Amino acid sequence: MGRLVVVSNRLADPRKAAAGGLAVALGETLKRTGGLWFGWSGKIVEDGTPGEGELHVHQAGSVTLAELDLSKEDHDSYYRGYANGVLWPVFHYRLDLANFESGHLGGYRRVNQLFARKLYPLLKPDDIIWIHDYHLIPLAAELRAMGCENRIGFFLHIPLPPPPILAAIPSHEWLIRAMFAYDLVGFQSHLDVQHFAHYVKAEATAESVGANQFRAFNSTVQAEAFPIGIDVADFQRLGRAREARETYETTVKEYSRRRLLIGVDRLDYSKGLPQRIRAFRELLLAYPENRHSATLLQVASPSREDVDAYNDIQHELESLCGSINGDFGDFDWMPIRYIHRTVARKRLPGLYRACAVALVTPLRDGMNLVAKEFVAAQDEEDPGVLVLSRFAGAAEQMPQALMVNPYDTHGTAQVIQQALQMSLGERRERHAALLEGIRKYDVHWWCREFLRTLGEAKQPPSATE
Ligand code: G6P
Repeated sequence: MGRLVVVSNRLADPRKAAAGGLAVALGETLKRTGGLWFGWSGKIVEDGTPGEGELHVHQAGSVTLAELDLSKEDHDSYYRGYANGVLWPVFHYRLDLANFESGHLGGYRRVNQLFARKLYPLLKPDDIIWIHDYHLIPLAAELRAMGCENRIGFFLHIPLPPPPILAAIPSHEWLIRAMFAYDLVGFQSHLDVQHFAHYVKAEATAESVGANQFRAFNSTVQAEAFPIGIDVADFQRLGRAREARETYETTVKEYSRRRLLIGVDRLDYSKGLPQRIRAFRELLLAYPENRHSATLLQVASPSREDVDAYNDIQHELESLCGSINGDFGDFDWMPIRYIHRTVARKRLPGLYRACAVALVTPLRDGMNLVAKEFVAAQDEEDPGVLVLSRFAGAAEQMPQALMVNPYDTHGTAQVIQQALQMSLGERRERHAALLEGIRKYDVHWWCREFLRTLGEAKQPPSATE
């Protein structure tokens, strides 16, 4: 295999311990091939010229990191305006939250062109290029237009909605056409692949020319599901380290008389947080034996605070938690501990292990790795129970979790009650099956499988017009 070139909006130094499983897995593959990781530097140049940006190239062990600065105007329209104001809500089925101001599309194209211009001179002829996520959908088309003939794969970390929702984006044809510049397009779930197939057949009159292969715009693209996993062994190692053990002990001590439920999410409207909090209130109303004993620990890490919809959800959540604590709380018990902060990754396994139930109840999610990390962190002899939304990509792979429809408040409360009352035997059985699944399909499998398929994707590279 040639050298691997990874491109993503956010870069992670694979040597840093705080890096998540994705950065570690990609970092390992990059190290093996002596690869390059290209992305935004995280720096916004206040008075920078749109379409321009300084590139900083440096070595991180055997991996070369190429980091590009962005002007404020570019960052505003590309990241905040188009990626997070249009693609994120629409791809999460939230047309009501999308802002289709046309200027943002220009910024999105400009930054993808800038990425292509800066990346192209760094490429070698046999490099394999792997582009990640919705920020960079048109990047391969831009590279092809410059003459790039390398194998290029794309992985979408978020869901792909059904065609009628996708078609609401004013530039939807252009966006999907850009996907035909890739040799392989990877999605999180089979449902996402189905949506892609339906869309390209209906809107682009694409033909099926083989298993998961579609031909349109004079190009053939292969589209497949590669559900992303975690590094189970690595997360469990983290669980045995001092920080996680301390967190486990203090949490168990603090809540010794309680049954703990946990939610850990970015504060995002796709995560179904208000719905989850309402389901917890319903649990206290419908099953009053949980009063004074069940506590919900909700960690909501701040995210994209410069996008309006994120402020709205924060206020809604604060007011909901406040009213439930006011209505039900007592001198010696508060039903909800709401933490609007990022919890250090090193502490998470200890926290997960101290909890009886995890609530992973997004309204829509590409995969959701909290579900997998919760399972990896459990004590196999006395494991906690995973309550999982049927609308998370993880649901396709984790049928032994207790499934909920997060829009159904009473139904969710009933399932939470079932989780709290589950026998040890059933908990062990479900957990063992879940653990086996996340071990088999871990992040290394994902990385290997995607790159193997990309290497075998039989397509002469060709530019889309
Ligand atoms: C999701 C996306 C990632 C993104 C992350 C954090 O997981 O799939 O591409 O990096 O959210 O969001 P942010 O906007 O802070 O990069």
